[in-house]
Amino acid sequence: MRGAQPPFVDRVAELGALARWSSRQRATPLYIYGPEGCGKTRLLREFVSRVDELLGGDALAVYIDALEASSPVHALLSKPSVPGRLIEEAVAAAVGEPIGKLLALSVSRLVGLIAERLYERRLRGKIVVLVVDDVARAIGVERVEWYVKHLYELTWRVVEEYEPEAFNVIVSTSEGESLELIQRHRHAVTRLLWNLGRKPFQELVEKLGAPESLDRGGLWRLLGGNPGKLVELAYNYEWRLDEMLSEYAGRLRRVVLRALEENLAGRLLEATRNPDILAGEPALRSLLTRENLVLETGILLGDGELGVDRELGIGRLYAWQTPLYPTLIHRLIESQLHA
Ligand SMILES: Nc1ncnc2c1ncn2[C@@H]1O[C@H](COP(=O)(O)OP(=O)(O)OP(=O)(O)O)[C@@H](O)[C@H]1O
Ligand SMILES: [Mg+2]
Repeated sequence: MRGAQPPFVDRVAELGALARWSSRQRATPLYIYGPEGCGKTRLLREFVSRVDELLGGDALAVYIDALEASSPVHALLSKPSVPGRLIEEAVAAAVGEPIGKLLALSVSRLVGLIAERLYERRLRGKIVVLVVDDVARAIGVERVEWYVKHLYELTWRVVEEYEPEAFNVIVSTSEGESLELIQRHRHAVTRLLWNLGRKPFQELVEKLGAPESLDRGGLWRLLGGNPGKLVELAYNYEWRLDEMLSEYAGRLRRVVLRALEENLAGRLLEATRNPDILAGEPALRSLLTRENLVLETGILLGDGELGVDRELGIGRLYAWQTPLYPTLIHRLIESQLHA
């Protein structure tokens, strides 16, 4: 979503972690995954815009929105800025595909052009960060493994050719499916970006102008700090929570029906209370991962660990992307069973 964005809240630990990661040469790209709408794009764009303040020194950060369809200006954000003609030149040979995807696929050429044309090949002493956002959705889950390996190789080529102080790549995805593929190899370090904590979430609720009648505690238990869902509630539904819930219930009905067809409804009901049972349910786990409802837990990008919280649908191994999903699925199954 572009256009009016709410004021940025929190993510201090995560911005610090990105700055630390970028400040030294790393052996592999950093692969960030997290619930849909948890704020990956916002965090990465914020990081790039504030790279001078966060990294100090001689930094260059380039962000590619791999999902951008047509606008070169929106597909790339860079500090210091990169002229539009270079972006067009980087993707010139390939046409007929969305610009963001082309840029993601042309990173090697783009970095080369930036180094040669803007810095006369002199990246020595520079800290360079390349961020590719939403890569799995843009190029397809099946190609992510290849792509990350490509970035890994690019890193070493850039280091050798231009000798920057550090050249690191950060990639993001909300597709849980791609994670398994990435973790099979050692070509990336994976980190989880989770939804907002309770305090910053409440801060955002107020900043978005929630009506006084809205039950704040109930909203937290339902959305579990997901800023994307909160922005949707504010902007699309004008705080009519019931309307948003019935729309999501409509979308989730398909998943429940599928589980009923496959005799998995009982296990699905259990998973709404305890997502960790998915460890022993590969078919159900794969359905819920593919539908982007559940994710594997993991090491957080910021400080600390994602604590188990059954009320919010967070287990030790697996977590519902937002408690909205288990809450609605639970209701749907109960109503089917008693129909
Ligand atoms: N820290 C934050 N402060 C204020 N608003 C935020 C913050 N994080 C995210 N948002 C807002 O929440 C919405 C969803 O965030 P964003 O698009 O970054 O999520 P995402 O994780 O990239 O989602 P997707 O998985 O769909 O790509 C946006 O409107 C964004 O501006
Ligand atoms: Mg995003």
